[in-house]
Order: sequence, then structure tokens, then C-alpha cells
Amino acid sequence: MGLRRGDSESGEESSGWGDGRACNATCRTRTSMTKKKSFIPLKFGGFKESLLHKPSHNSARIPNHSPRMWPRSLTPNKLALLFHSPKGKPLAQWVSPFQAFFSTHIVGDQPILVRDFILSALYDPKHGYFSQRSRSVGVLERSIKFNQLEGRKAYMKHLDKIYKDSDIAWFTPVELFKPWYAHGIAEAILRTTNLSVPLRIYEIGGGSGTCAKGIMDYIMLNAPPRVYNNMSYTSVEISSSLAEIQRETVGDVQSHSSRFRVERRDAADRSGWGDVQQEPCWVIMLEVLDNLPHDLIYSKDQASPWMEVWVQKQLDSGTLNELYKPLEDSLIKRCFEILDLDKSQTAQSSVISKAKSIWSKAFPKPQRCWLPTGCLKLLEVLHGVLPKMSLIASDFSYLPDVRIAGERAPLVSTKKDGRSSDYSSYLDAKGDADIFFPTDFWLLERMDHYCSGWMKPDKDQSSKRGKKRRTIMLDTSSFMEEFGLPSKTRTKDGYNPLLDDFKNTKFYLSVPTHNIK
Ligand SMILES: C[S@@+](CC[C@H](N)C(=O)[O-])C[C@H]1O[C@@H](n2cnc3c(N)ncnc32)[C@H](O)[C@@H]1O
Repeated sequence: MGLRRGDSESGEESSGWGDGRACNATCRTRTSMTKKKSFIPLKFGGFKESLLHKPSHNSARIPNHSPRMWPRSLTPNKLALLFHSPKGKPLAQWVSPFQAFFSTHIVGDQPILVRDFILSALYDPKHGYFSQRSRSVGVLERSIKFNQLEGRKAYMKHLDKIYKDSDIAWFTPVELFKPWYAHGIAEAILRTTNLSVPLRIYEIGGGSGTCAKGIMDYIMLNAPPRVYNNMSYTSVEISSSLAEIQRETVGDVQSHSSRFRVERRDAADRSGWGDVQQEPCWVIMLEVLDNLPHDLIYSKDQASPWMEVWVQKQLDSGTLNELYKPLEDSLIKRCFEILDLDKSQTAQSSVISKAKSIWSKAFPKPQRCWLPTGCLKLLEVLHGVLPKMSLIASDFSYLPDVRIAGERAPLVSTKKDGRSSDYSSYLDAKGDADIFFPTDFWLLERMDHYCSGWMKPDKDQSSKRGKKRRTIMLDTSSFMEEFGLPSKTRTKDGYNPLLDDFKNTKFYLSVPTHNIK
């Protein structure tokens, strides 16, 4: 005990601050250390008002093209190194509650929707990528002492060594920047939450438990004692091995154990949640959205209707190909409505649609569009069961060098002989490749508003609307400058990997309006 905000959990460096909240004014500087960050008073109950979007049907689309985080060509294998190890020794077993549709192959005799193909390819207990590449969420033995590293070169060398020594598939930012990354999230929660009610936090896909431990440490040391004493932290984790690791990580601090529990289950399965919980709570999801199943829709040209894509196996050759059916699946249709895709096809004057039809016949251009149906399903469940939740999600807003066709297409990345390479067809992923998608944060916000019941599809005439939510999207660097302690991840020459490198990741925060003062 005795740690304060600013002290490292490994004790490597101490700021000596008595109370982190009191030091915001002087210590929060930008990377360059030239510009002092304006002091944002820490009061419980509200984001800085200017940071919060009022939800709007017309909210501007966040471009997918944020600058690259690590252009793969510039820093060969560095992106891959940060997230995937050259080795990846199977140490722990990923067990998925999903039905293994197929005993020997990802696709059986019957065609399946693309999202079911992805679900199997990633999570099937026998054939899934994560089942084979188990122990894919790495745990650093000790925090990186950024302040002792000279600069970028030294940091990269250090990372290389960590990957070589650890035999781990990949390290996520919360792990690489522990405990500071989790502390930033805890600070965001403390600034926003109503502390007169017990603090309840849910984390979906907590990986190794590093976020949970960091947040609980921070609250224990920085919030009024009653907040820590009355808090609960529930982790919903699909992987049994990771659930076990989380228990161990958080259990390191004895007092956390009675406030922390892991439920091993699929968070998108409504039945696991039990009764609706009306109390305010927080839901955290770090790098979970990118690995959730997606669907694919296809249109053979600019004027033809969208079709849903199924995957089927050629019985004679065993090869996989796509099958197109009219839109029927209800999850795909809901996602389609939220995207307003049908509007773009139907709400045109007859002159325009005639011209378009002629043009598309002369110059047909097939269209493909990936839909985050797994995320939609998860949000529907979360809003249904936790109507007063506040949400913090972080993920990739953009992925470089994607070879798969279509809007919001994934990277399908495999590794052979320690080298990573990308497939040009998702159908090649048969348990040997990671499939990860960029998050369209504009769409995430829309889905959030639909699932809360505030935005309604045009066809829905019911008068009952949910309450407005306030939302904000921040680059990781902005989030960490706002809520974290950037000085802790800065190297001697001023290079700050957390602020400088994570250009293609964002945070999404969404709070119900009753939380705002
Ligand atoms: C890419 S890892 C990220 C881990 C951790 N959040 C981090 O940032 O280090 C994705 C995590 O989500 C979990 N996960 C994926 N789908 C899930 C689901 N439907 N329900 C619960 N957990 C899920 C995985 O088991 C894993 O822990």
C-alpha cells in the first residue's frame, strides 16, 4: 500500500505526489513539454462539456483514414511484433462456448453466414485461431521503465527482447503501458461517475486482467475510501484460460479479491446476464470489437440490391466459395438499417436511379460491405440488460495494408516460420490466421444510439424512445493526455510511444445523460 497516482506499481519511479488529483494542473503537459495542458478540475460527475458530442442523426462521419500507427513498411514487423509474437507457443487453452459446427472443418456440408465462418475460424475450440494460438494475450513480467530508455530505437530494441524472452503471441497497449494505460481509464471513470452510488464496473474480454488490476489499484489509492470499499468489478471473459489468468493477476492484491469476479461466458449471449440491472455501471472493452464476428453483404453492381454472403464448401473439391442470398438475416438487416444503406438506394429520384442503372450496366462495379453484426449483437444485449451503462471502448480505427476487398474489411494475418503475412481472402483463414477488423467509430456511435432506443429505424413507428446518450471519440493520444499521465510513458529524448505511435486507435466513450451534471 502507500502507492499514489504517479507511483509505479513496480516501485521503479516515484513522483512523490501526495494526491494525483491535485497535481493535474502542473504535471499534465504535452509530449513536447512546451505547452502546458489547461487544468481540467477533477469533479465527479462530468466530462469537460466541450468534449462530449450531443448525439445527432447528422453527426459527422469520422473518417476511417487516420494516420497509420506503424506503417508496416517503415518499421518492418514492428506492428506485428507489438501484437503478435514470432513464436506463439500453445500454453493455455482457449475454450469457446460457441457450438463447434464442424468436427473436422470450419465449414460443413451446409452453407453458413460469414459471421459464423469467422466465429469458427477464430474461436472454434478445435479449429479456431485462438484455440491453436493459445496464450495469445501476453503478460509483461514487469512494467517498462520508459523514462530510462533513450528513445524510439531503445524502445524497439527493448520490445524485441521482450517478445523473444516471453514466447507470447502479442501484447496489447494496456499491457505494454501498464499501469499507466489502465490508470488513465480509471481517471476517466472517476471524473465522470456519480460517486454517491456504488461503483460497478464490467469489463468484457479482460485478457490477462491487467486493466482490471490497474483500475482497482488506482481507485483504491485515489478515490475516497468508501468508493473502493463499495465497488464491484465483474469481468466477462469467453476464454476459460484467460479467466483463470485474470483471477491470478487481480488476486495479487488481496483486498481486490472480494470486489472482483470473473464470469466465464460469451458477453453477447443475453442468457448469461440474468435480470435487467437498473443501477448505473461502467462497461470497458479494450480491443474486443476488432475480433468480434462480422457479416458481409454484396451487390453485383451499383444499382443491384444488396445480398447477404454465405460460405459454402464445394462438395467435390472441398474448396470454399461465396453464396449470395437476398437479405433475410435479422441481425444483418438491423445493421443495414442503421447504416442507412437502403436509403441510399431507394431515396433517389427516378431520373437519378435510371441514370445509375444505365451507368452500372455499362460499368458494373461489384460492391462489398462488412457489417459489425457481432458488435451490434453485443450492444443490443448490453443496452437491454444494463440500460444505465457508461461505455469505454478502445480499438483500431484504421488498419494499414488491408488486402481484403470491401468497406471496413479486415486484416487476415497469419504467421509462418516466425514471419507474418496477410491473406488476400478471408476464406483462407481456417484457424491459422487472426482476423481483425477496423472499428468504424461513426457506425459504433450510431449502433449505440439505436441500441439505447434513442435513434429509431424509419420503419419503427413506436413512440417510446430511450434517453439520449452523450458520446465522445478521442484518439488514444488525446484520451491519455486528458486522463492519463503522459510523462510516465515518455523516453529520455521525448519520444512517447503511447502518444506518438498509436495513431490508428481511438477511444469511444458513451454515457447516459442522467450521469451528466
Ligand atoms: C484481443 S483480446 C484483448 C484483451 C484485453 N482487453 C487487452 O486489451 O489486453 C480480446 C479479448 O476479448 C475476449 N472475448 C472475445 N469475444 C468475447 C465475448 N463474446 N465475450 C467475452 N469475451 C470475449 C477474448 O477472450 C480476449 O480476452
